[in-house]
Amino acid sequence: MLTLAVLISGTGSNLRALLEAAAHPDFPARVVAVGADREADGLAHAEEFGIPSFTVPYAAFPTREAWGDELAAQLDVWQPDLIVLSGLMRLLPAAVVARYAPHIINTHPAYLPEFPGAHGVRDALAASVSQTGASVIVVDDGVDSGPILAQERIPVLPGDTEATLHERIKPVERRLLIDVVQRIARGELELAP
Ligand code: GAR
Repeated sequence: MLTLAVLISGTGSNLRALLEAAAHPDFPARVVAVGADREADGLAHAEEFGIPSFTVPYAAFPTREAWGDELAAQLDVWQPDLIVLSGLMRLLPAAVVARYAPHIINTHPAYLPEFPGAHGVRDALAASVSQTGASVIVVDDGVDSGPILAQERIPVLPGDTEATLHERIKPVERRLLIDVVQRIARGELELAP
């Protein structure tokens, strides 16, 4: 059974989808802890599913590195096989990546390497592209630059706003994330650094 720690910053809808998938007896992974960098609404999903959670408030630390050290200490408690960044809106410090790589994956609401960073949906709209996408990647030291594990194209529709486009992307992200986690757990997908 693959054990997962999931890190979030926001509403945690992708986390919830993972928790629902992992609740099925046949699912080959389970979430052992959920962490956040702020008092994220999504922590309520962890509570509902009876999963332990922790918050390491970014604002409470003098440097990103100090925040990362505490985050790593919290993660170490759970010894997860895989860390899933599911809407964590912070770059992990290099020391945290080095500690767990290549066992950290990230979901991103764009067809990487297009539109990396914190505003993948907004940047795709601003570029007036006709299609964008969703990706699941291995986390490396860069900004959304690690090896791509899965991705899918999603059309941008006339009249799309950042919110409507993001809401169409998220279900695809969820499907890709759940599929990638299952394939890693079954040994069908190897994480290379
Ligand atoms: C997701 O679309 C995720 O890909 C994105 O934040 C959203 C979180 O939604 N992450 C990034 O943009 C990271 N660069 P959720 O909190 O409802 O799961």
